[in-house]
Amino acid sequence: MNVIITENYEEMSTRAAEIVCGFLKDNPSSNLGLTTGNTPQGLYERMVRSHWSREINLSKATIFSPEEYLGVGPEDYRSLYKWLDRSILSHCDVKMEQVVRLRGEDPEPQLACERFDQEIAAMGGIDLIVEGLGENGHIGFNEPGSSKESQTRIVALSEETIDYNYKYWNDNVPSYGLTIGMGNILSAKQILLLVSGKHKAKALSQTLQGEITAEVPASFLRLAKQLTVIADREAAELL
Ligand code: GLP
Repeated sequence: MNVIITENYEEMSTRAAEIVCGFLKDNPSSNLGLTTGNTPQGLYERMVRSHWSREINLSKATIFSPEEYLGVGPEDYRSLYKWLDRSILSHCDVKMEQVVRLRGEDPEPQLACERFDQEIAAMGGIDLIVEGLGENGHIGFNEPGSSKESQTRIVALSEETIDYNYKYWNDNVPSYGLTIGMGNILSAKQILLLVSGKHKAKALSQTLQGEITAEVPASFLRLAKQLTVIADREAAELL
């Protein structure tokens, strides 16, 4: 595990971009898992700039969009895939065929989850996944109580997560989500965890220094093959 502490959000995003863009230059045909939330937006802005300056080329990569709200498809303004598309994919000329997304709108969502895992397996696994951290220690939508073997599935969002997601969609936050499982995340060859702000300090200290437990699913990341954590000073204040 490699932990990098930066002065602020901007520096966190710059260090993350160096890692992801460097990886893409060496592995242009790689499988990338990209999540949403506010935390990775600075990274995505930098990746878009690198795309326009031709430092990186995403045309051979496969992008996994590993979280969505239940009943929500790309035409819905709350779609997490659409958020990813708005912040990075559309600006980097990523084509629909290059994206494997969790289909929240599928009439058989459990089957959609199973198909998502089959596609990960068929593509040979995820090479690098970018994750943010929930204040309650969740990763993706793997809420407290998620086992380290969990696969992609439908989950009830915790009250904390629903409240937190208000800032994205006001009072229109769905109560259920589809999420890549902790087991799938831990199988990625590389995990990059980004954490910013005082409000994440407790969750980060539990993640890195507390007991490894399903009550803090992010703590399972310490079992990963290759984990890099980039946290700004405020998020790292309890370490
Ligand atoms: C949401 C998302 C996560 C994200 C987390 C933190 O629940 N499902 O992927 O990491 O919230 O979001 P933010 O980065 O906005 O703090």
